Amino acid sequence: MRKKYICGNWKMNKTPDEALVFAKEINEKNLDDVDILIAAPFVDLDILKKNLNKNIKVAAQNVSEYSDGAYTGEISTTMLKSMGINDVIIGHSERRDIYFEKDYIVNNKVKHATEEGFDVILCVGESLSTRENNEHFEFVKNQILEGLDDVEELEQVTIAYEPIWAIGTGNTCSAEDAEKMCEHIRDILRKTYGDIADKIRILYGGSVKPNNAAEILSKDDIDGVLVGGASLNANDFIKIINYKENL
Ligand code: 13P
Repeated sequence: MRKKYICGNWKMNKTPDEALVFAKEINEKNLDDVDILIAAPFVDLDILKKNLNKNIKVAAQNVSEYSDGAYTGEISTTMLKSMGINDVIIGHSERRDIYFEKDYIVNNKVKHATEEGFDVILCVGESLSTRENNEHFEFVKNQILEGLDDVEELEQVTIAYEPIWAIGTGNTCSAEDAEKMCEHIRDILRKTYGDIADKIRILYGGSVKPNNAAEILSKDDIDGVLVGGASLNANDFIKIINYKENL
């Protein structure tokens, strides 16, 4: 049985002071028995790690594929580990589209981070034109196979399906369509890697809000959500964590 996984991605939002306010707000609440993670900007990681309840994981939103050296502006796994951070999001569509991270770069990062003992959330998802051309299943399949190529520590991997056209737009993929894609992803994992497919968690992301989280999370192959905008507000994020109250 895969435990539901509720993840927030703050993207480039919140100063350390604002992160501390959020940590205090969320620490006071009773939270359902789900796994919880917040992926925050690098500058917020330390304050969150020191102030959030220990049952909430803190993740980076990116990491270098290199160990150390002349890579201006980059952050290494060693640096993150020294702060007690062991989780990272890799291959978010904003990194792929705005910073031109190709599948091979995403793959190098996933390989490096998993070898260094990190739990990785690998993001995949198609653009609107790819979906309209009915090429989304094939597109996501390639992203998964390329992103996980030669990755040995598959038990450290979570997949997040985030259709680009649903991110930050208010256009949620219907729960049925999200489930279809997550089922497809599990199928690919099973055919490629065998039984471990049943252990790998698959999340949905894209305009998840307190009012649609319960429907999305009730689907069998959707093991959690990766929430952008609604994770910035502690009350909204708590409602998503406690989604069972809306079932
Ligand atoms: P929104 O929830 O704001 O659509 O963002 C989704 C996302 O990109 C999470 O990584």
